[in-house]
Amino acid sequence: MILVTGATGNVGRQVVHQLVGAGHPVRAMTRDPSCAALPPAVEVVKGDHETIDRCLDGVESVFLIWPFHTADLATGVVAAIRRHARRIVLLSSGAVRDQPDSAVGLSHNELEQRVEQSGLAWTMLWPSTFAANALWWRGQIRSGDVVRGGFGALKMAMLHERDIAAVAVRALTSDGHDGTRYVLTGPEALTQVEQVRIIGDALGRPLRWQELSRDEERQRLLADDDFPDSFVDALLDGYAQMLDGPPPVLTNTVEEVTGRPARSFAEWAKDHAGDF
Ligand SMILES: NC(=O)c1ccc[n+]([C@@H]2O[C@H](COP(=O)([O-])OP(=O)(O)OC[C@H]3O[C@@H](n4cnc5c(N)ncnc54)[C@H](OP(=O)(O)O)[C@@H]3O)[C@@H](O)[C@H]2O)c1
Repeated sequence: MILVTGATGNVGRQVVHQLVGAGHPVRAMTRDPSCAALPPAVEVVKGDHETIDRCLDGVESVFLIWPFHTADLATGVVAAIRRHARRIVLLSSGAVRDQPDSAVGLSHNELEQRVEQSGLAWTMLWPSTFAANALWWRGQIRSGDVVRGGFGALKMAMLHERDIAAVAVRALTSDGHDGTRYVLTGPEALTQVEQVRIIGDALGRPLRWQELSRDEERQRLLADDDFPDSFVDALLDGYAQMLDGPPPVLTNTVEEVTGRPARSFAEWAKDHAGDF
């Protein structure tokens, strides 16, 4: 049995679908099973990181995501997993290496240390920027052809959640991945201006970017009910730091692990056209 946490989210939902598609028994953890909308073959259980112990009976492998910006729960969560399971695949973050002093870098680093010290067989995933972050523009794109934002020139190696999930599934279900950190990126580095144009191509609409100052972007995000206020400054600090640094280094890890090249952002935009 494989326990998937974050099973209703960007990556976890894909992990569930791919595991079920390959015939593996899957248990999905969610805080609200009534809204999970997962395939019938999945055992959906109510739980969260604080109550994870109750979801772990008979589980051999765990896909763990960390939806927090602190590691407060890390010791308890990892100890609970260790009591039941043998293997863990952790959706971590490249911020551990690239932005070690950020909240995301610090919390994931501490979590990784707990996992490494646990005695579990582990694989850490270090994904680049999720293509799914473009969904943050959904409201703007639904209401017009202009996307207003900051740091339009910032290049990101947008990574399709299906590719992250495909690597996770290999690490959960086959040997040879233990003790490995996989640095995962999309196949190309694209500015935010280019991302908006590509989404426009997928929608058949002339979308264009309108640049905001950092302060204007901060105000815009704080006023956006769908974006967590607590993450605004961390995000903008991260963007500022990335803009000052070198462009993202691309890897072939998705293809090396799965045998299939990483999907393009254009492919992601086509897959998600209905979401906009
Ligand atoms: N976005 C990026 O560019 C990026 C890049 C590198 C790494 N990462 C890392 O990827 C992870 C996020 O992955 P994701 O986008 O797949 O996750 P997600 O879609 O944001 O969330 C996954 C699920 O976690 C549960 N959840 C959300 N907030 C929670 C909370 N406060 N307490 C308990 N459960 C909560 C929700 O499930 P239920 O409501 O069903 O319980 C949600 O569907 C983070 O650790 C992030 O640091 C992200």
